Amino acid sequence: MAMQTQAGDPGAFAHFDLNRVPSPAFVVDEVAVRRNLAVLKDVGARGGARVLLALKAFSMWSLADVVGEYLDGVCASGLWEARLAREFYRGELTTYSPAYKAQDLPEILRLSDHVIFNSPDQVARFAVLIAEARAAGEVFEIGLRLNPEHSEGEVAKYDPAQPCSRLGFPISQLTPEHMRGIDGLHIHALCEQDFAPLSRIWAAVEPRLAPLLGGVKWLNLGGGHHVTRADYQIDDLVAFLQDIQQRHGVQAYLEPGEAVALDAGILIGEVLETFDNGMAVGITDISATCHMPDVIEAPYRPAMLGEATAKDAAGNVTMRLGGPSCLAGDIIGDYVFAERPPVGTRIAFLDQAHYSMVKTNTFNGVPLPAIALWNSKTEALTMVREFDYSAFRDRLS
Ligand SMILES: Cc1ncc(COP(=O)(O)O)c(C=O)c1O
Repeated sequence: MAMQTQAGDPGAFAHFDLNRVPSPAFVVDEVAVRRNLAVLKDVGARGGARVLLALKAFSMWSLADVVGEYLDGVCASGLWEARLAREFYRGELTTYSPAYKAQDLPEILRLSDHVIFNSPDQVARFAVLIAEARAAGEVFEIGLRLNPEHSEGEVAKYDPAQPCSRLGFPISQLTPEHMRGIDGLHIHALCEQDFAPLSRIWAAVEPRLAPLLGGVKWLNLGGGHHVTRADYQIDDLVAFLQDIQQRHGVQAYLEPGEAVALDAGILIGEVLETFDNGMAVGITDISATCHMPDVIEAPYRPAMLGEATAKDAAGNVTMRLGGPSCLAGDIIGDYVFAERPPVGTRIAFLDQAHYSMVKTNTFNGVPLPAIALWNSKTEALTMVREFDYSAFRDRLS
């Protein structure tokens, strides 16, 4: 099942001159990121929750100081994100990985404030390393990720509560003995969802968790909350956070990723070649498989900036756009143009700041998109990073 494009508001990008940057390039609007961060900060402040950026979604570290102005910290998926967090970001650091390697754990324990494990077994297996780190003066708390065994996911691939999931300890197996040495609990079971699924998950797990919550300090409700989407029920989330903290005496955490960068960046490319083969076909310097792998993986069809609508002029052309790689399925989607785009036409796909920039690769030696920071209020544009051949060469040998 294909996912719906949940976002796709061009915002200020509607008036961005696509020729201001080299192609391909991600352009992130700092004003849009700040707008999202302000919404999340407000949720944290009113709901009494601590809000962390999930680096896996958006780790454009040139904006680390901006993130630090609004949020309480970041969360990492393992050692390298934890290092990135401590090198550039401020505030708290929570690390969760489905499994740790013994060789990585001492550094993770040193860097992180919360280290969250996927099972009580892992906590027990690493008890010696944990004790050694504490004896060496490291201060951190231990968490346990629970699988709520209540599915709200619309697509199995993005549903951590899918049957036979590897993500989180099944809540039905949890006993008070498992809580020994556990300072906090973590549940992440949403993806691009609004408040109702969160409240249904909570309703499903609360009776089982209530007797155990007295012994923990915090409850991390993960990410997947589409808080910065225009129709998200923010006041319901705030009331919910206040309520659960009051009733259970825990500190709530949220770790949104996508919501921080929602509708805050575009990926600009250009048309390299067009021809006809059953329909109009265009090859671009944006590759789905190299630059927007979720287009194939999810799959979904990214919205294109300024796409003509079927109602526009009779001469419009529907063109299948795809990348320059060898993969037959390196197809971005079918897009309507008011007229056949000549070679060199600049195009842009919306909402590409999260989960695209962090997933790029150089399959086929396809160049990586540059990264630009734009301020839609001042029009200031900074080329943050351009990648050359060495980016391809140096990850191979
Ligand atoms: C444990 C955990 N926390 C937070 C997130 C961030 O989710 P999102 O970017 O959907 O808000 C994810 C995403 O997969 C996750 O697995």
